[in-house]
Amino acid sequence: MKHAADPGPSLADLEADPHPHLARLRASGPVAWLPALGGWLVTDRATALEVMRDDTTFTVDDPRFSTAQVVGRSMLSTDGGEHDLHRSAFSKPFRANAVREELGPWLREEARRIVGSFAGNGSAELRSALAAPLAVSTVLHTLGLGSAHPDQVLGWYRTIGAAIEGVNAGRAIDDEAVAAVAGLRARIDETVAGGAGPLAEAAGLLDADAVFANAAVIMFGAIETSEGTTAGALFHLLSSPEQLSEVLADRSLVADVVEEALRIEPAASLVDRYATHDVEIAGASIRRGDLVTVSLAGANRDPSVFDDPDRFDLHRANARQHLTFVQGPHVCLGMHLARLETREAIDAVLDLLPGIRLDPERTTPPRGLVFRKPVSVGATWAVSHQVPTGDV
Ligand code: HEM
Repeated sequence: MKHAADPGPSLADLEADPHPHLARLRASGPVAWLPALGGWLVTDRATALEVMRDDTTFTVDDPRFSTAQVVGRSMLSTDGGEHDLHRSAFSKPFRANAVREELGPWLREEARRIVGSFAGNGSAELRSALAAPLAVSTVLHTLGLGSAHPDQVLGWYRTIGAAIEGVNAGRAIDDEAVAAVAGLRARIDETVAGGAGPLAEAAGLLDADAVFANAAVIMFGAIETSEGTTAGALFHLLSSPEQLSEVLADRSLVADVVEEALRIEPAASLVDRYATHDVEIAGASIRRGDLVTVSLAGANRDPSVFDDPDRFDLHRANARQHLTFVQGPHVCLGMHLARLETREAIDAVLDLLPGIRLDPERTTPPRGLVFRKPVSVGATWAVSHQVPTGDV
């Protein structure tokens, strides 16, 4: 039976600040039917794990899955053997060692190049000045698309993203989206034809449609989320001057800042699954075909796992138990890269922007229904006559 949460938060409530609503829902049971979503919402960590690990019962392979309608079948929209085929064709550059050794030095330099480009100004809005351009250049570099113009890629990305949202809202895919898919597809086909790099390697294992769909999913999986993670980590760190001082004194704490930032506000806060058969879970009777949405934001603030869960605490010993990158077959392919990217961004900020502090007037807290990030992270710092350059 579907117990409606009474009357349950609206989508606008969840977009603005979901955390008090998630806490209330969780207190009356970890799985609730949410009329605003037209599906079940899972709000505790144990049930979230149960759902995400069981892709036989809770699948992503459903005609309602909007990304697949726009870009085609990919690792994100398939399960079982087909999923493994898609994923294994792209996994090599994203393994922990490959990220550290092959992408690490480039990432460090790129973060410093970007921060160096505005260090002399004494102030900036760090989401748009740093987090966004770093997210785009990182994924383009990783896929061997480094020669593509970032603004053009961002244009395609926004149009395709809007089309995916449109499909969610019941609209048809418009001509603009068809043209954006064609533009991105041409760029990817051209790179494959170049014969080197991860896309060409994947083309040895998958057909051209699948190479395109997975490349698009990797790009879209990376841009919004990495931008949100870096902006969120800077927001939380700069919002806590005592913790900022500690990190300045002990830079090994940057990795802990990243992990706690991932926990407290997952940049992708909801993931969708569809029940393949009737099933009882945590007392909820789910019917075949029902939408089951897992709130990663809810799981990450489950008070039975995380003490004082609303507090940003870089010394939290179990922060790594967050589910921000999910678990199970769809665990984020880019998690090692995303972690390193945010670490390098913070390091570059702390190295190149002396005396950095938050500018509350130019800062807005995280918001968003599925993708959450602070819209702006204003900051000021001291400018010396000798402005540091990107190659420090
Ligand atoms: C360089 C950055 C990133 C890349 C290349 C990337 C790529 C991907 C890909 C390809 C998948 C699909 C895996 C599969 O279905 O087998 C995925 C899943 C996922 N990623 Fe990432 N990602 C990146 C960063 C992030 C970040 C920063 C977050 C969150 C803060 C995130 C959250 C997720 C989540 C929640 C899923 C699971 C989706 C689901 O199960 O429905 N990703 N990622």
